[in-house]
Amino acid sequence: AGVPPEPSADAVLPALPTERRAGCPFDPPAGLAAPDGAPLRRMRCADGHIGWLVTGHAAARAVLADPRISSRYELLHPPMPIPGMPSELPPAPVGDMTGIDPPAHTRFRRLLTGKFTVRRMRQLSERVEQFTTECLDAMEQAGPPADLVEAFAHPVPALMICELLGVPYTDRERFRSEVATLTDQTADAEAKGAAFTALHRYLHELVLAKRAEPTDDLLSDLTGSDLTDEELSGIGGLLLAAGLDTTANMLALGTFALLSDPDRLRELRADPALAGQAVEELLRYLSVADPLLRAALEDIEVEGRLIRAGETVAVSVQAANRDPHRFPDPDRLDLHRRATGHLAFGHGIHQCLGQQLARVEMTVAFPALFARFPTLRLAVPAHEVPLRDRNNIYGVTRLPVTWDEA
Ligand code: HEM
Repeated sequence: AGVPPEPSADAVLPALPTERRAGCPFDPPAGLAAPDGAPLRRMRCADGHIGWLVTGHAAARAVLADPRISSRYELLHPPMPIPGMPSELPPAPVGDMTGIDPPAHTRFRRLLTGKFTVRRMRQLSERVEQFTTECLDAMEQAGPPADLVEAFAHPVPALMICELLGVPYTDRERFRSEVATLTDQTADAEAKGAAFTALHRYLHELVLAKRAEPTDDLLSDLTGSDLTDEELSGIGGLLLAAGLDTTANMLALGTFALLSDPDRLRELRADPALAGQAVEELLRYLSVADPLLRAALEDIEVEGRLIRAGETVAVSVQAANRDPHRFPDPDRLDLHRRATGHLAFGHGIHQCLGQQLARVEMTVAFPALFARFPTLRLAVPAHEVPLRDRNNIYGVTRLPVTWDEA
């Protein structure tokens, strides 16, 4: 055994695997885990840069916790071609703390952590129950079939973000349709551009309104800090970007996974108290936010390999969460497993700020959905469900479901 030699600039190297095995929508792409079990290996980025792909759980944690590893967008080489995105990334927009490093990151993180209080989370949990019930009522009234993404998985987290930011009730439809265009994979670039501009204009107006007349919400609270209007509306945009598509895809893909696995679904139905643990296992098993991108600021050694300053490191959460050294029999969805320690919310200083909220949303939403529709099932064969492949948030674009009316 030994460390493989450094590849030459023109060496033929694998790209990030993104193709899923036919009929396996819940398993990571074929060839993602290294055939020899290596925790990290060289990888060819979309622009030709030779970077790294980390697939081992311990190596992923080490990289994500290392202060010599940066999250700054402008240092990253995209590992896969992203439609409509230039190969060189611009710096993070103002207020987007995912793409910056300390000390700038620390300032935002402190301010925001202080606002995700236990009291606010408790208030929000009550609202999740209400929104879930409202969405299920509407679904039931409209009757089968339904697209679960449109009817349930998207509106529940969208309403929660509105609640968190303090979007007034009367603005919700406007807000939701612009957000829907932004996160719709089939919308063209022009429509997305227009939705983006409109949303940012809206968030800016919202910030001004909160400054003039604060209400009981996160954005109003933050107007008491030293953040500028631009930073505040940027934070609004960040919370939307980080909290909506992720949760919506977990809800839709999680429902798809459970409907495809009747034994697991029976277990959950028989014991709704299992929901918290089931959510943790679904987070591990599905790992929708993937990969996490970083760049080395200095030469660092990880598990015997030397990552050089400037190199891009793609941390595959999906692969790390299926690492057999950390999770025995990792490809099995086991709702009784203690899945804690998974990396679905990341690790280190950028670990998901909304994870408690996301957990509450899912722990309420899954059991409520399955209780309301005891005969819920897919309305199309599983292989016809359209997948969000090649997107940094994996999931489904639509989930056609049906049920027997009472
Ligand atoms: C960061 C996943 C829901 C707000 C992250 C990161 C992951 C993640 C993996 C780390 C990104 C990185 O290290 O580069 C998820 C998943 C969710 C979810 C799987 C749902 C199931 C939410 C919600 C909110 C939220 C509901 C807020 C309302 C954030 C923010 C960050 C973040 C603000 C950036 C933190 C920082 O850079 O310090 N999330 N997230 N997320 N998430 Fe979430």
